[in-house]
Amino acid sequence: MDGNTPSEDAPILWSGRLEEKPGARAFAFQSSIMVDKRLALEDIQGSRAHVLMLGKQGIISEDSAVALDTELARIAEELESGILKVDRGAEDIHSFIEGVLTKRLGDAGRMVHAGRSRNDQVATDLRLYLKHVVPKLCGELKETIQTLLDQAETYAEALMPGYTHLQRAQPVTLGHHLVAWCTGLERDLGRFTDALTRLDECPLGAGALAGSGLPLDREATARALGFSAPTLNAMDSVADRDFVLELAGATAITMIHLSRFCEDVVLWASEEFKFITLAESWSTGSSIMPQKKNPDFAELIRGKAGRTTGNLVCLFTMLKGIPYAYDKDLQEDKEALFDSLDTVRACLSIFQGMMSTAVFNQDRMEGALIGGFLEATDVAEYLVRKGLPFRIAHETAALVVRDCIAQGQRSITERTLEELKTRSSLFERDIYQALTPGACVMARNGPGGPAPEEVRRQIGILRAKINR
Ligand code: ARG
Repeated sequence: MDGNTPSEDAPILWSGRLEEKPGARAFAFQSSIMVDKRLALEDIQGSRAHVLMLGKQGIISEDSAVALDTELARIAEELESGILKVDRGAEDIHSFIEGVLTKRLGDAGRMVHAGRSRNDQVATDLRLYLKHVVPKLCGELKETIQTLLDQAETYAEALMPGYTHLQRAQPVTLGHHLVAWCTGLERDLGRFTDALTRLDECPLGAGALAGSGLPLDREATARALGFSAPTLNAMDSVADRDFVLELAGATAITMIHLSRFCEDVVLWASEEFKFITLAESWSTGSSIMPQKKNPDFAELIRGKAGRTTGNLVCLFTMLKGIPYAYDKDLQEDKEALFDSLDTVRACLSIFQGMMSTAVFNQDRMEGALIGGFLEATDVAEYLVRKGLPFRIAHETAALVVRDCIAQGQRSITERTLEELKTRSSLFERDIYQALTPGACVMARNGPGGPAPEEVRRQIGILRAKINR
């Protein structure tokens, strides 16, 4: 943030009490204009609802209310068109707007703050902003899920190894893997919508912490601003930042998801895996090694998950020790939350672009199904189907794997039936069909499984959920 100095035009709202004022450096330190200037339109929206209510309630004259409302609308237009610039020397967006009003309207401008405080004002502005921005974020999240679900559908039959401990575990499909990602993202969507429902109450009129003795109509301002109701308790209204924590939390979780997906992508893009080919336009090169094609975008998304986790920790730490009600510490909420929201939105859009242009190398993925004995669990389940208790079946299959390794065989199907029978007489010819990767996947068609028809069912459910 650059060192802004107290401005001539933007009045300091609290200067009456103090004979001496903070010097330029101290003033700049406590100023928040560079962060909260993005709340300008919401601040104006809140002020317009407030002045109209003051007029209706007879707290100010109807004429003043109309004059204030008209001027506020004009200021909004001028800010949007760029004719009016936010003054970096103002203390915060609230003093800036009030300053412009007063400069233009004189005493009428001085009436706007009756019955409110910057404490309820900033809480209202922030909630209004989030009601506007979080639905956009949700739309972007949905688009990302849609892109991945389209690919899951395309690759519903594409066989690949599933991993645990980054060791080949069991055959799955790429569709199954991509739906796993989407399931997490759909929960993220739920967390954002959930937070939006809870923050849908209007703090305006809570004042500094104790409401106002003036006959405010809080129902009216809440309604005018599109909130479902005014907040219940004035002190809670200015002290509460649960909604900031919830959104920073939902953001941090979404970023952890993206980070883990990107880790998969980075691995898959390596020569060792070669499961994915990222578009050249979604890759970067090296300044020294001419041959390089690097998955920088995936790495950077993974890296940025550190930021959003950090912002969440920062918010928790900022809040934990502050006494009720408002404390200036709370001003730190916006920089962290805005950064988190900006970060997740940028990452979603980059991730979607990168994934929608990526090509999956099915030969490589299928090739990786040979060599890791991914069919061993199916050997155990084969024996269970023939009546063997699972623990014994597991041990038998493990011994078969050991036999294979001892003889340099890469798959259990390389063993003859006679060799298999030395470990269990239950093995029959049908074992060979049961052990192809395709058969292993097809057999897992129960709820949650990787069989193509089951993955298509999961895709359908997720599509319905995100379109609700
Ligand atoms: N810039 C402040 C914030 O973001 C606005 C509220 C200031 N209130 C006060 N009593 N100093 O929290």
